Amino acid sequence: MKRAPLIAGNWKMFKTGSQAVATALRLAELSCDVKDTDIMIAPPFTALALVGEKIKASRIHLGAQNLFYEKEGAYTGEISANMLKEAGVSHVIIGHSERRQYFGENNEDVCKKIRAAVESSLVPVMCIGETELEKKDEKTFYVLDKQIENGLKGFRSDELSDLVIAYEPVWAIGTGKSATPDQAQQVHRYIRTKIQKMFGSNFAEETRIIYGGSVKPDNISELMNHDDVDGALVGGASLDADNFIQIIKFNRMI
Ligand code: PGA
Repeated sequence: MKRAPLIAGNWKMFKTGSQAVATALRLAELSCDVKDTDIMIAPPFTALALVGEKIKASRIHLGAQNLFYEKEGAYTGEISANMLKEAGVSHVIIGHSERRQYFGENNEDVCKKIRAAVESSLVPVMCIGETELEKKDEKTFYVLDKQIENGLKGFRSDELSDLVIAYEPVWAIGTGKSATPDQAQQVHRYIRTKIQKMFGSNFAEETRIIYGGSVKPDNISELMNHDDVDGALVGGASLDADNFIQIIKFNRMI
């Protein structure tokens, strides 16, 4: 059985609460006839509860962009899985390259965060991907191996049944330089083989591997035409609902 596509929007540090609500409402209206594709949006923390309230009746899932792995405590500025859960969140992006690059997150942090997400029944969207330099040095597969092995260390496959892996080559994020669909397919195939070795064939067949990095209305269809590309994590092009809906409805554009 083919995996249901997931198109996810990462709004990063854009939009106040009221701006996020306006975009989410517009997206809910535009996506009311979408049946075959899962949709997720990840507004900033301050907008989560507000947006969650407004999209409750829609098919849009609410995602957070990060969490902290402790349950509670003296961790100024941090947000726990339970806090997200109560705000209506169902998905959480973990280990985005901007978190790794600007906030020093490493694979061990990612692993603890996935554990916290799973324990609160949040769907973890684990981001992995190589930098431009790593690609030039032909270290892409080595880097991905380490991110997957250490990020998913100590888990049983049944604990990760909802896991989504987002392959986001760092050199393609926000640069307009998307990986070619063939490049994406090749890496996604590699990732699927890797998780098959770690967790078995059923797990590998059922786990969604989505692509991120300069996804736009005009390159989504071709990306989605490849067997191992199960969706997209979209930054810039998800900020405007009328633009984002064209990506969500990719299968009507072929
Ligand atoms: P982009 O960002 O679509 O703006 O390249 C993708 C991401 O960071 O998830």
